[in-house]
Amino acid sequence: MSGYNALAEVYEWLISDAKLTPAEFASSFDDVLDLVPSDAHVLDCSCGTGQLAVGLAGLGMHVVATDASEAMVRRTAELSEQFRASVRTVRADWQELPDHFDDGTFDMVFCVGNSLHHAEGARGRVAALESMSRLLRRGGRLVLTSRTWELVRARGSRLDISDRLVHRNGRDAVVVYRWDIAPNWEDEHHIEIAVAQVDTAGSVLARSELLSSWPYRYEELEVDLHRVGLQTEMSTFNLGAENYMVVASKV
Ligand SMILES: C[S@@+](CC[C@H](N)C(=O)[O-])C[C@H]1O[C@@H](n2cnc3c(N)ncnc32)[C@H](O)[C@@H]1O
Repeated sequence: MSGYNALAEVYEWLISDAKLTPAEFASSFDDVLDLVPSDAHVLDCSCGTGQLAVGLAGLGMHVVATDASEAMVRRTAELSEQFRASVRTVRADWQELPDHFDDGTFDMVFCVGNSLHHAEGARGRVAALESMSRLLRRGGRLVLTSRTWELVRARGSRLDISDRLVHRNGRDAVVVYRWDIAPNWEDEHHIEIAVAQVDTAGSVLARSELLSSWPYRYEELEVDLHRVGLQTEMSTFNLGAENYMVVASKV
């Protein structure tokens, strides 16, 4: 199970300003979207609250949005309705995707926003990537964004408290991440995330969730992509940056 059911309710407080509107989120991928026709068939397989999926539908693409979390899928369907976008939503974890879609269905699959580390260990990660690869047509592309886990692990276990209030939907919140870094890369790690909303009367409303994580090194990801028939076409990986994007095409 992915977790994220409690966080779905407060997910706005966790995402950057640039991801808040569907159009902006989709336009952050302008360069890769140039690689597919405007009526392409695309899948966002960890759709979260749906901004990317709805943004892609707004560009005229045929969009399917899936996520392991029922609450996230519900929020994506609501956002889609709000924008009158045509997005098909399905609750499915990565390994279940081939039960829902034929091989070769999509021109592009997105797995973005630091999602893949939730796959259980190296085996779970390869199985998840294998599903994504199967659903791509030959020449289709997987677009994956990731934290630079090398940096996260180097910092060790810690508590990160936001140094500013995050303002969303007329409410301010303090966001806290507790990173529980395990001794070895392959061990299960934990990340506890709390969103504490503070109102003008001083009341605090907190939501939190403990998430499991299996970080990976960039070289491991490259090997895994290759193993499932995907060839890295573009990568922004750089040990000095917090996040990177990889675009890999189906051989
Ligand atoms: C950090 S959020 C990113 C959401 C969205 N892509 C974004 O950029 O805002 C990670 C997402 O991955 C989903 N997820 C976690 N494990 C999953 C799995 N095994 N299969 C599919 N989705 C999963 C979570 O439910 C959550 O919505």
